[in-house]
Amino acid sequence: VTPAALAAFRAVLGPAGILTEPADVAPFLRDFRGLYTGRSPLVARPDTVEQVQSLMRLATEYRTAIVPQGGNTSYCGAATPDASGTQIVVSLSRLKRIRAVDAAGFAITVDAGCTLSAVQAAAAGALRLFPLTLGSQDSCQIGGNLSTNAGGTAVLRYGMMRDLVLGLEVVLPDGRRMDQLSGLRKDNTGYELKQLFIGAEGTLGVITGACLKLYAAPAEYATALCALSGLGAAVELLGRLRASFGELVSAFEYIPAAAYALVARHLPEFVPPFAAASPAYALVELGLPSAARALADDFAALLAAEIDAGRLADAALASSLGQRQAFWFLREHIPDAQRRAGASLKHDISLPVAALPTFVAEARQRLKLLAPCGELVAYGHVGDGNLHFNLSPAAAGDDAALLALEAPIKRLVHDLVAAHGGSISAEHGIGRLKVAELERYEDPVALELMRRIKGALDPLGIMNPGKVLRGGDS
Ligand code: MLT
Ligand code: ZN
Repeated sequence: VTPAALAAFRAVLGPAGILTEPADVAPFLRDFRGLYTGRSPLVARPDTVEQVQSLMRLATEYRTAIVPQGGNTSYCGAATPDASGTQIVVSLSRLKRIRAVDAAGFAITVDAGCTLSAVQAAAAGALRLFPLTLGSQDSCQIGGNLSTNAGGTAVLRYGMMRDLVLGLEVVLPDGRRMDQLSGLRKDNTGYELKQLFIGAEGTLGVITGACLKLYAAPAEYATALCALSGLGAAVELLGRLRASFGELVSAFEYIPAAAYALVARHLPEFVPPFAAASPAYALVELGLPSAARALADDFAALLAAEIDAGRLADAALASSLGQRQAFWFLREHIPDAQRRAGASLKHDISLPVAALPTFVAEARQRLKLLAPCGELVAYGHVGDGNLHFNLSPAAAGDDAALLALEAPIKRLVHDLVAAHGGSISAEHGIGRLKVAELERYEDPVALELMRRIKGALDPLGIMNPGKVLRGGDS
């Protein structure tokens, strides 16, 4: 970034819109997991869409690479600049207006820098639900949720972020603004452009605003923590629950004993709800409209029948909000507990739900031979066929041995996923971390189309170079 460019950026952003002191810039240079630390001469903090446009016009003029950043909570390094010191971070955090809440139309229009929890709260204020639910919701931002097509724990019922979008506003690399914010439910006019930018991880343009779908807020939740024999039993329970309750099943999270034990060991606040240990648990939640409140009894009856039939070891139904929160505490603190347990290797995979038990059994067996120093902690969104197929050290002192096997373990897991027709990134995206993996496993025709789309929308290669797709070195 030349002095002339710096002066130009300063002129359009104003003193409050630019950070250059190393101590101020530092937090924007490191990703949430600490996998990457980049360099950048400045962090731009526009507070209007017009400023984002001016910024992009200058970036085009000066051929400056841009790294859009939201709450900086992503898992694959998509929001971190490289080490060249030539890329500038654009933080959207000052763009945080709730633009409009349309309770009658079940829609909300927001700036990209709103935190997810701010959007949830604005929806709740209008007695509506914005359903995306993630561990990092207090700090992650809607623009990042859109750019990574975030998932979380309510996907089973409401879909991923791209399913929740009615309209999008994007600033293109040349500074033009694409306004597709109308929020119409029906609009069959040509290519579905907004979906290109969702999940593109900032490689095609800067998302500045969105119109999002709202839903009726459930009148109450029926939540149960079920103790069961393993993944096979969990998949069967999921099938029976969906057959009985259909779309009311809003979450189905799988918690193996290894994950349960990590939370119990590392988070003293956690109070185990069962006296006896079980090989696995499933956290199940139904969101009930007021007309269907009585279904909570049917839910309890189904679980009781499962226990009688010997298919479930036990089930604890939340009888208060506090208990519901305690069950979710267990689920939501698994990543935290795993971090506290030392080194961890993460894989974010998905398969057809029915294929999960066989896949996990096979992978477990092979991993035992390759990496006895690792303990499998495979938990997560089984309702969506998505497991966080992670490994922690098997015993204290195994950290280095486990990390040394990162590459062969990844190859084993991803090859097996591919052989089963699964995905190597179910919800965390590609970022910088999985560029080579995408190249290896993606259909070559699809990959070629992605490169052509990138070339068409970002001909100078200034949008988040090196993320998702290789190339565009700056
Ligand atoms: C989760 O579902 O907890 C996160 O997406 C995955 C993780 O932290 O490993
Ligand atoms: Zn997840």
